[in-house]
Amino acid sequence: MRYLQMQSDIERVLFDGPAIHKRLDEMAAQITADYSDRELTVIAILTGSLMFMSDLLRRIPLPLKLDCLSVVSYRGKTQPSGEVIFKQLAVPDVADRDVLILDDILDTGQTLAAVREKLDLAKPRSIRICVLLSKRKRRAWEVDADYIGFEIDDEFVVGYGLDFMERYRNLPYVGVLREELLNP
Ligand code: IMP
Ligand code: MG
Repeated sequence: MRYLQMQSDIERVLFDGPAIHKRLDEMAAQITADYSDRELTVIAILTGSLMFMSDLLRRIPLPLKLDCLSVVSYRGKTQPSGEVIFKQLAVPDVADRDVLILDDILDTGQTLAAVREKLDLAKPRSIRICVLLSKRKRRAWEVDADYIGFEIDDEFVVGYGLDFMERYRNLPYVGVLREELLNP
């Protein structure tokens, strides 16, 4: 019953499970080809990228290392504040590694710009960024993703790892949250 309530908070489904998995097949094939002669170090940004990470990495038949990074981006109601807090004291050691950062969504770019800058300090051999979703129109920081699952419009989406106030992450699809729930 409560699950039905959660589903009824969704205005419409953008990408259902099969559509996501089909796209992940394509992304994984591309990443596998690009890293066939290098050892990949994946850095997943928690918590939003959990489902994406788990489904994508199982499609990449390469030796790889996996680390997670937990960050919180604080922002005002409409404008990002520019502050990204790293919850760990130590960031993964990525010196000389070929790093692929995974995140759920590239929105203003604040989070990924900060993560990339932090990892850059360890002098990795390369850094690329892979996101399930991108809202290009919202970009305020200079950051681009090398692999993008889907470009979407400026709408607030939840599910498949993405949350609104820590809820909806376990929906098996990506959907647009009903607007009245965002601004009650
Ligand atoms: P950015 O720092 O503005 O690029 O935002 C990235 C983070 O904001 C993501 O990792 C999400 O946690 C969150 N975010 C941005 N847009 C959405 C959305 O539409 N739904 C859920 N979370 C979002
Ligand atoms: Mg979030």
